[in-house]
Amino acid sequence: MVFQTKRLRSETSCIIELYVMKELLQALSPDECDWRIASQLDPKRIPAHIAIIMDGNGRWARQRNYPRIMGHKAGVDPVRVVVETCAQLGLEALTLYAFSVENWKRPRHEIEGLWRLLRFYLRRELPNLMRNDIQLIAIGRLESLPDAVQQELQSVMDKTSRNRGMRLNLAINYGGRTELVDAINAMLDNARLEGNLDALEITEESISAHLYTAGLKDPDLLIRTSGEMRISNFLLWQIAYAELYVTETLWPDFTRRELLEAIAEYQSRDRRFGGVSLGSPSGIESQPLIVEEELLELPLA
Ligand code: FPP
Repeated sequence: MVFQTKRLRSETSCIIELYVMKELLQALSPDECDWRIASQLDPKRIPAHIAIIMDGNGRWARQRNYPRIMGHKAGVDPVRVVVETCAQLGLEALTLYAFSVENWKRPRHEIEGLWRLLRFYLRRELPNLMRNDIQLIAIGRLESLPDAVQQELQSVMDKTSRNRGMRLNLAINYGGRTELVDAINAMLDNARLEGNLDALEITEESISAHLYTAGLKDPDLLIRTSGEMRISNFLLWQIAYAELYVTETLWPDFTRRELLEAIAEYQSRDRRFGGVSLGSPSGIESQPLIVEEELLELPLA
């Protein structure tokens, strides 16, 4: 079954979103707890873009006296479940933090194990990506990855390039700061090529348009597993107004249920984007108008 909302969302959003929720519910069994949580979600407030910091693989392995790579291996199944569920929910985009620019500091054998796992995942998941109409894009400084990994990524990106459902961003050799540096250098290069460097004006829109995530909505929800209260150089520009959901669950234990719970929690939040809530008692409507003279007399706290 193909779950397409991406391009249709704005035109017939309500009907499509209700349809998508129905498809997700059909994929679940009504006696499952996940079905109950999913059926209580508001189809009109499904986040368009979720970003996830998949953390805790090493601790999961240590708790079992396994080598660290076993934790990463156990982290592959939650990736599959989350990707498929997000596609079924009709998200426009899911961005997963798979390897940061800082992760090169890890032991060589762990890094090599991660590349092996990534290639295994890509090979095994291609049919599922195609079936769910998912377009995979790797984001980050990919030119530094081993050749075999680059080739495998390119092959899956090519094969999924015509898919029009959810966009799956795999952040690999990714850093939020390096992404901003790359974006600004790209703007400078373009301006130099066009001979208008002197007139180059940098705006929020032009920065967004040169990020690896250009054209996508910013994440509405950022999930981090394993309880760490850090952003870890992930999507620094894009998460300006993302809702944060941090769970103690280690990534290999992260389930569809917890993903649905995170979305339910997100739907309960009051997103104000720096404004005020129009619906709450402290909102604009309920505030008396204060004239300038009264304002000057108000005591400062
Ligand atoms: C962080 O946990 C996790 C990573 C650096 C790698 C993430 C990789 C996977 C989830 C494997 C599968 C991914 C794909 C895309 C196929 P950590 O090792 O820092 O855990 P710790 O903080 O407990 O040590």
